[in-house]
Amino acid sequence: MRRKATADSFGLNQAIADNQSRLTSGTEAPEARCSGATLVPVAEGKHELLERLAGQIRSCTRCPLCDGRTHAVPGEGSPNARVVFVGEAPGRDEDEQGRPFVGKSGQLLRQTIREVGWREDEVFIANVLKCRPPENRDPEESEIEACRSWLIAQLVTIRPRLIVTLGRYSMALLMKPGLKITQIHGRHAIRDGFVVLPTYHPSAVLRDPEKLADFRRDIMKARRLSEVIDDNGRLNV
Ligand code: URA
Repeated sequence: MRRKATADSFGLNQAIADNQSRLTSGTEAPEARCSGATLVPVAEGKHELLERLAGQIRSCTRCPLCDGRTHAVPGEGSPNARVVFVGEAPGRDEDEQGRPFVGKSGQLLRQTIREVGWREDEVFIANVLKCRPPENRDPEESEIEACRSWLIAQLVTIRPRLIVTLGRYSMALLMKPGLKITQIHGRHAIRDGFVVLPTYHPSAVLRDPEKLADFRRDIMKARRLSEVIDDNGRLNV
């Protein structure tokens, strides 16, 4: 049965349900599609599936940002990550290297991830947009719409215990539009069966160092939360 996405749903369960019904009805087996992104061929492991998605993202032409990119930036990390960090869009360094969060704000993010006791290779880091907007301008609605199914396909594949949104664009997409980050950072919510924790974008922290203590506290909370969410996504606190 189709369920319409609501304000507190970012379409993940719908994507899974659509995918499942196509698989069981045999219409698209062994591959299924999620808003254009290839999803969950049954026999394929998470690693192979993420690699395949990354290949598709690198050759994506769904929006005009593909014209200006040096590299698309699919994201990187463990296919079995318990936590996925989601930023906004690649900047200049990321576009040059094809890797997420490798510039100044990335250094802060990666250092904080290590400080709370994770290894960088046990988490997954991705963005809402996979290609750099010109001069790092804000993402446009149409670009987010064109790109969102890549991120959803990655989340469906990884099935992390926790999603940490970095900044307002990933918060609007994965929590709810219209929230104020200053008011709700560090407060987790359940969306589509995922625990989602919003925090500041690391570049906002670099611009305003007064946010640093909150940012660190939020990432520390993410670490603690990830330890009390079981494999079925239930919080045991
Ligand atoms: N800012 C982002 O949102 N993502 C990156 O990958 C780098 C900077």
